[in-house]
Amino acid sequence: MRTREALSTLIFICIIHFMAAAQGGSVPKNDLHIIPRPFKTTHITNPFHLNQKTVLLLSGDSIKSDAEVFQQSMHLIAGFSPSIVDKASSNYIQLAIDSSVGAYKEGYVLKVDNKRISITGHDAAGVFYGLQSLIQLVDERGDYLIPGCIIEDHPRFTYRGMHLDVSRHFFSARQIEKWIDVLALYKINTFHWHLTDDQGWRIEIKKYPKLQTISAYRNETLIGHKKELPHVFDGKPYGGYYTQEEVKQVVSYATARHITIIPEIEMPGHALAALAAYPELGCTGGPYQTATFWGIFSDVYCAGNDSTFTFLQNVLDEVLTLFPSKYIHIGGDECPKQRWHICPKCRKRMADENLKDESELQSYFIKRIEKYLNGKGRQIIGWDEILEGGLSPGATVMSWTGESGGIAAANQHHQVVMTPEKYVYLDYYQSLYPEEPLAGGGYLPLSKIYNYEPISAELSPNEAKYIMGVQANAWSEYYENKEKAEYMIFPRLLALAETAWSPKESKNYTDFLSRLRPQYPLLKKLDVHAADVFDEITYAIDKAADGKTLLGLNSTLPQGIIRYTTDGSAPGPNTNVYHTALAVGETEIIKAAVFENGIQYGRVFQKNVLVHKAVGKPVTLSFQPAPNYDPGNASALVNGIEASNAYNDGQWFGFSGVNLEAVIDLGSVQKISSIGTNILKYHWQRMWEPTELSFWTSTDGNNYTKVYSQVDFPVNGINTIKTSLQSTQARYIKVVGVNKGIIPDGEYGAGAKALLLVDEISVY
Ligand code: ACM
Ligand code: ZN
Repeated sequence: MRTREALSTLIFICIIHFMAAAQGGSVPKNDLHIIPRPFKTTHITNPFHLNQKTVLLLSGDSIKSDAEVFQQSMHLIAGFSPSIVDKASSNYIQLAIDSSVGAYKEGYVLKVDNKRISITGHDAAGVFYGLQSLIQLVDERGDYLIPGCIIEDHPRFTYRGMHLDVSRHFFSARQIEKWIDVLALYKINTFHWHLTDDQGWRIEIKKYPKLQTISAYRNETLIGHKKELPHVFDGKPYGGYYTQEEVKQVVSYATARHITIIPEIEMPGHALAALAAYPELGCTGGPYQTATFWGIFSDVYCAGNDSTFTFLQNVLDEVLTLFPSKYIHIGGDECPKQRWHICPKCRKRMADENLKDESELQSYFIKRIEKYLNGKGRQIIGWDEILEGGLSPGATVMSWTGESGGIAAANQHHQVVMTPEKYVYLDYYQSLYPEEPLAGGGYLPLSKIYNYEPISAELSPNEAKYIMGVQANAWSEYYENKEKAEYMIFPRLLALAETAWSPKESKNYTDFLSRLRPQYPLLKKLDVHAADVFDEITYAIDKAADGKTLLGLNSTLPQGIIRYTTDGSAPGPNTNVYHTALAVGETEIIKAAVFENGIQYGRVFQKNVLVHKAVGKPVTLSFQPAPNYDPGNASALVNGIEASNAYNDGQWFGFSGVNLEAVIDLGSVQKISSIGTNILKYHWQRMWEPTELSFWTSTDGNNYTKVYSQVDFPVNGINTIKTSLQSTQARYIKVVGVNKGIIPDGEYGAGAKALLLVDEISVY
């Protein structure tokens, strides 16, 4: 397996050759491997040779700390760092602030010629970001020859965020600082620190010592995915918290890197850890236990109890002394209302305050906390459920369930940060290879997060102004350790960083990858274990004119050659070269791998194909699948490719509140020996099995005979149904799945429409 480092050495050699050829002329625009891509780059002739004698010349003391952070970075990546001086005539890096540089906050101009490097920032942040660009240029060749250039740069969005959940898995303050270095390198300016949740309270609050002794710990932790039942636990106590001293240190570390930390104190839901220590704050009075597995728990803060507000206000008072951020995140997501519904205190509150339902009680809760924080000069941010029952007056909305919450909030002229789950959640799988380490679910390849556009076309220019920016969210249920966390976060965060910073018009995925690959040696020096799977093979299904399903393979590795086999053997440097899409239906197993100069890059891709009678035949659906679970063409139900565990892999058909009713026309009456399909049952994802699944056959398309029925689907995951038929002659096959309808009380998404997920109807 080729490593990324070997690859970048190759690139480096090519560049050196290219530079030699280009001496005295201009170099093409993509040889500056900076992420995020700068606003404008001009190439000039000669490079600057950074060496041990290079010094840092500062105009003004206000940027001294930026220079010092640069010294630390240089030390780490180069083993030496320029010293700070008052005067120099050559071989220097000059740093200055000039607010007339561009009209943009955080902007900078970086000029490199053979005598000097100058970085002029619009403000200190601009100087800092110029230095971050310089660090990427220093490292990319390893010879400290910085290409002659002029970079004029500034961000697209003022809010460029990364969220990290430290409740489900805890990472030390020192580790957080190391990640903050990486965020800063890619010009992320906001770190959203998710400090409290059901599985652990992670910030010291001196007034409530049991938050440290009880809430910060859980008895044990779930092993495997939460969907795998029965749950299995590791039997080991787990926990930890940040002392206030540590928090202060991390905040000051981040501030020196122009990163604002927004703390999240979650309410009214996701509060089990706090309730475990202070059960009087829950509707039932407990006892409660810090959660040991992942999910949504019905025990939440009691909204009718004034002591809940006293507690939260006291907690927030301490939080405010530690975090100077304008915004405080108060959570607000996924708060089940069943306890409130029957709690006498909550019911009294609803009556006293004239609240018509529990949604309005949630709104009351958030507004009350908002008012408190506003009184302390702060603003709230909340997840999009804070729209339920009416948005509080100054709230900023973090739109995570999709984009609609953000759009609704922008239309009401509230500030918005876009974090839609299916585009920016770093707990999703980044690859569909079955060897991928366990993840939350869903599929978010690097290309998809890269191509996410935060300003929805549904917004008018006036409302688009309310989109402050974009953020990637790192939920840590399955981040068992630092390496796993980094595998999930990087490089996808770099894609998000480019969306947040670079002009929309200049974004190009291929160009991004050409700048991403050379980042790996630098990431390695920063001790970041980034995933390196984005150049592996992906597939696409197409349909040929003759009705055949075609399996297209692709790799983004430049000069990569895909080689494949159809006999189950491993592909090697001499097996078939892939040129055009392969016809499905002629072979049952396709294995493939990418080769570069005869060396295999990455893992072996494998696709098992069902060769059956319905492949490529016309399919008619009585009801349309939901937009999020619509492969776009009914023929994907019979393309020979079965959907995977990643429920948004583009193969599943999801019917929201409506039935599956599919009719396949085989073209002629023929003997049928078997019909099958797959149903995905993930109640934790609102995906419900049908109340009945039935198969029907017909010779004329009018009169159907029911040949099979099933009502039990025991597997939490993919239920594979395959029935054998005896002496059945048919031309038409009908498959009917009766949707569960409304999700029952007590289940995730109760009251919403159930999704019925199905893929691949096979007929033999
Ligand atoms: C969230 O992902 N529950 C905000
Ligand atoms: Zn209550």
